[in-house]
Amino acid sequence: MGRLFGVGVGPGDPELMTLKARRVLASCSVIAYFAARRSRGNGFTVVEGLVEDHHDLLRLTYPVTTEPVDRATYERSIAAFYDCSAESIATHLEAGRDVAVVCEGDPFFYGSYMYIHQRLADRFPAEVIPGVTSVSAAAAAAGRPLVSMNETLTVLPGVLPPDELKEALAGVDAAVVMKVGRRLRAIRDAAAACGLGDGAVYVERASCAEERVLPLADTEGIEAPYFSLVLIPGTGITTR
Ligand SMILES: C[S@@+](CC[C@H](N)C(=O)[O-])C[C@H]1O[C@@H](n2cnc3c(N)ncnc32)[C@H](O)[C@@H]1O
Repeated sequence: MGRLFGVGVGPGDPELMTLKARRVLASCSVIAYFAARRSRGNGFTVVEGLVEDHHDLLRLTYPVTTEPVDRATYERSIAAFYDCSAESIATHLEAGRDVAVVCEGDPFFYGSYMYIHQRLADRFPAEVIPGVTSVSAAAAAAGRPLVSMNETLTVLPGVLPPDELKEALAGVDAAVVMKVGRRLRAIRDAAAACGLGDGAVYVERASCAEERVLPLADTEGIEAPYFSLVLIPGTGITTR
């Protein structure tokens, strides 16, 4: 029986992969990766330079990239996709091949690998290799400590309805809003409404060559790519 690895490959810069991630990748026969249609796969682009002749590649293409209006249909379709992906991976594991499922950032921090783990970890030996998250990379890129002393860090998906986002941001010590995309304006408005607009930072493609860091207030008119988030740092920076 092969072993299943959920390999966190970090936020984009291949140098931010851990030694363990590199070792496990090199030792596996199969590299599996998720990718949206017409995309090379975010995790895969990080490890592309490490693919060797002995590797079989298993591309798992998402059926849908954004949630349609009908949430139930979306959930059924994505669950069927993960069922199907898990079975493709299981075929390799049953044949005795070790499989590395690469995952941008950390696998258990909003990572798709978790759905494979849920489906297969009781059938095969499974190990998660943690990775540097986009949040750490974004704080480093912005040069802003995230949280200090007794502060609490709140993590939110930007896809929340605007009112919920505002409610969740009210009174936070520090926050990170993931999955920005088309919600950038709503996030900017919610942060401003909560009096958090001034210190908030928008970070695009942290740790990559195309990295961009801007005050959130200056993002009017920007089309946020998939790889972007908003940081509302704690007070660490003001205690110098
Ligand atoms: C599905 S989540 C995956 C998070 C990932 N597992 C992690 O540990 O960071 C995808 C979201 O992570 C954020 N993200 C991932 N990589 C990023 C990067 N290099 N720079 C900025 N945001 C990033 C974006 O908000 C994106 O929409």
